Amino acid sequence: MLTPIDYPISLDFDAENGTFEPCPQVTPRHLSDLKEMFSDQSTVAQILRENDPLIYEIRYYPFTTTKSDMALAVTRIFPGTIGNEFYMTKGHKHQREDQPEVYYCVRGEGFLPLDTLEGEFRAIPWRAGVITHIPPMWAHRVVNTGNDLLVFIGVFHLSAGHDYDIVARKGFAYRVLSRNGKPELIKQD
Ligand code: F6R
Ligand code: ZN
Repeated sequence: MLTPIDYPISLDFDAENGTFEPCPQVTPRHLSDLKEMFSDQSTVAQILRENDPLIYEIRYYPFTTTKSDMALAVTRIFPGTIGNEFYMTKGHKHQREDQPEVYYCVRGEGFLPLDTLEGEFRAIPWRAGVITHIPPMWAHRVVNTGNDLLVFIGVFHLSAGHDYDIVARKGFAYRVLSRNGKPELIKQD
């Protein structure tokens, strides 16, 4: 646990690559880690028989003090599709009901789908330079619809907690699918 005496902490951020130093934790997410989130399960199974592509990775820095638990996460989503669905993050809702988050798109283009999982949905068109506040109780994920890396920063409290199961069970109201190479929002049944 870091104590205030270690502060202030500054990181060297490479916005082009979406990496920073020092970086105490990198979490890779391969297809097998989020396979249930994609709609085309036969393509998922077919790909997984051959390999397990890296969909995105997350670099964390916990700016923890004895009185606070703010954290930084920088996510790099690679370009690609599973069937006709763009690479995306797994998506989650914060467990605590009072925990928002700020997302900042540093490079790339895509969508930020937000869903209460209780009937309200928004899809924020995303490109470098857009900062979005994610209110508490909204599930969130990011979809990379470009041909290049999408990098975004998230700032949140570690005590927010992450509920992935609810997203796996209920699903977002819309998916971002590729139609003739262009992204389209398709309503789910
Ligand atoms: C933290 C947060 C992000 C995501 C990251 C990966 O609350 O929203 O740091 O954790 O972008 O996405 P998931 O967690 O959905 O795999
Ligand atoms: Zn979050």
